Amino acid sequence: MEEKVSRGVTILGSTGSVGMSTLQVLAEQREKFHIVALTAFSQAEKMFEQCLLFTPQYAVLVDTSSAQWLTKKLHEAGSTTKVLAGRKNLEYTASLPDAEIVMAAIVGVAGLCATLAAITAGKTVLLANKESLVVGGTFFMDAVKKYGATLLPIDSEHNAIFQCLPETYAGDKTKSGIRRILLTASGGPFRTTPALDMRNVTPDQACAHPQWKMGRKISVDCATMMNKGLEVIEAHFLFHIAPKHIQIVVHPQSIIHSLVEYTDGSVIAQLSNPDMKTPIAHALGYPKRLNTSIPSLDFFKISQLTFEEPDFIKFPCLRLAYKALEEGAGAPAILNAANEIAVEAFLKERIRFVDIPRILASVLEHFPRTLPIRTLTDIIRLDKAVRKFTQTYIINELQSVEQKVS
Ligand SMILES: NC(=O)c1ccc[n+]([C@@H]2O[C@H](COP(=O)([O-])OP(=O)(O)OC[C@H]3O[C@@H](n4cnc5c(N)ncnc54)[C@H](OP(=O)(O)O)[C@@H]3O)[C@@H](O)[C@H]2O)c1
Repeated sequence: MEEKVSRGVTILGSTGSVGMSTLQVLAEQREKFHIVALTAFSQAEKMFEQCLLFTPQYAVLVDTSSAQWLTKKLHEAGSTTKVLAGRKNLEYTASLPDAEIVMAAIVGVAGLCATLAAITAGKTVLLANKESLVVGGTFFMDAVKKYGATLLPIDSEHNAIFQCLPETYAGDKTKSGIRRILLTASGGPFRTTPALDMRNVTPDQACAHPQWKMGRKISVDCATMMNKGLEVIEAHFLFHIAPKHIQIVVHPQSIIHSLVEYTDGSVIAQLSNPDMKTPIAHALGYPKRLNTSIPSLDFFKISQLTFEEPDFIKFPCLRLAYKALEEGAGAPAILNAANEIAVEAFLKERIRFVDIPRILASVLEHFPRTLPIRTLTDIIRLDKAVRKFTQTYIINELQSVEQKVS
C-alpha cells in the first residue's frame, strides 16, 4: 500500500539552478512532500513567486532589505509564509523538527554552516553544495556519523557512483571488491579550444556550458575543470576511496554520469539525460523511486558515446586538486577558498581566465598545508585567511600590471 505521510523539505538556495530543479521535481510530488522553508541570498522577486506557488512555512533571505521587501509583498498577497532575515536563520530553518529532508544547494562555503546545522540535527541531507564537503573533509563526514544524519549526493557523478555501489557499501573498497571509480567529465566549453585561445575568453563564454545549465560559479569551475577537481575531492571523502583509485574520464555527451569498476572486471554505470532533476528525484525518493515525468533516454538519438583522457596540462586545476587532496589536512580548503575568490574576480573581469590556475598554485604554495582541520572554527579561520590573502594577491598583481603599463 502507498504510504500517505508527507515529508517536510527545506531547500537552502531555492532560487539557484539546483534549488529550482528541486522545486520542479517537488511540484509533481505534492502528496509526498511539503515545503518547510525556502532560503536564498537576495533574489526577493523569485522567492516571492516560489512562496506563492509552494506556500512554505518560512522564507529566509540573508539580505535584510530584500527580506523587508518580501515581507511587505507577501503580506499584501495574503500569504501565511513567515519571512526571516540573516545568515543565522539559514541554520534555524535547516534544523527545524518538521524538515526531515534538507537540500543543501547554496553555492560555495557560504553554505557550510547551514549544511552542518542540518547534519547536526540528524537530517537527510541532499548534498549539492560540494564546497562544504571539500573544505570540511573528514570533520564533515565524522559529523554525519556522529549525529546519525543521512548524506545523499546530488552532484550527478556522485549520485551515479552511489547508485552503482553495492547497497551494503560502508567505505571499504577492498571488502566490496571495487577496483576504481571512474568519474566522468563533459570537458566543459573549452574541451577542444587550443590552449592559446583560452587567454582571452570572456565570462559569458566560460559560462556557456555545452550540456548543463548551471549557476555562474560552477559554470566557470567546469570551464577550468576545477569542478572536476573538487569532485575528485568530494568522491574521496564521500566514498572513502584513495585519489589514485579515482580516474577522470572525459565523456562529452554527459550521458554516463560515472562508473564503478569491480575486481572481476565488471563496470557498472549510471546513465540518464543531462538533467539535474534525475539525481534530485533519486535522492528525494531514496530508497524508493519517485514516479516522475522526466523524459526517457533516447538511445537512437544519442547514437554514440565517446571517451577521452583528461588533459592535465591544458587544465592545471585538475593537477592542483589531486595535489591538494594528496597533501590533505587544510590543503583542499585552501584551494577552494582561493578558487572562490579567483572565480569571482574573473566573473567581474578583473583577472583573465588563464590567471585562475596560476593564482591558485601561488596561494596553495603560500600556506602551510599541514594546518589541521579539527573544528568548524579551524575551517572558518583558514577559509577567511586564504580569502584575504588571495584578494590582496590579486590587487597587488593588478597594481604591478598597471605600473608596467604606465
Ligand atoms: N547547477 C548545477 O547543475 C549543479 C550540479 C551539481 C552540483 N551543483 C552544486 O550546487 C551548488 C549550487 O549550485 P547552483 O548552480 O544551483 O548555484 P546558483 O544557481 O548560483 O544558486 C546559488 C543559490 O545559493 C544562494 N546563495 C548564494 N550566496 C549565498 C550566501 N552567501 N548565503 C546564502 N545563500 C546564498 C543563491 O541565492 P540568490 O539567488 O538570492 O543569490 C541561490 O539560491 C553549488 O555548490 C554547485 O557546485 C550544481
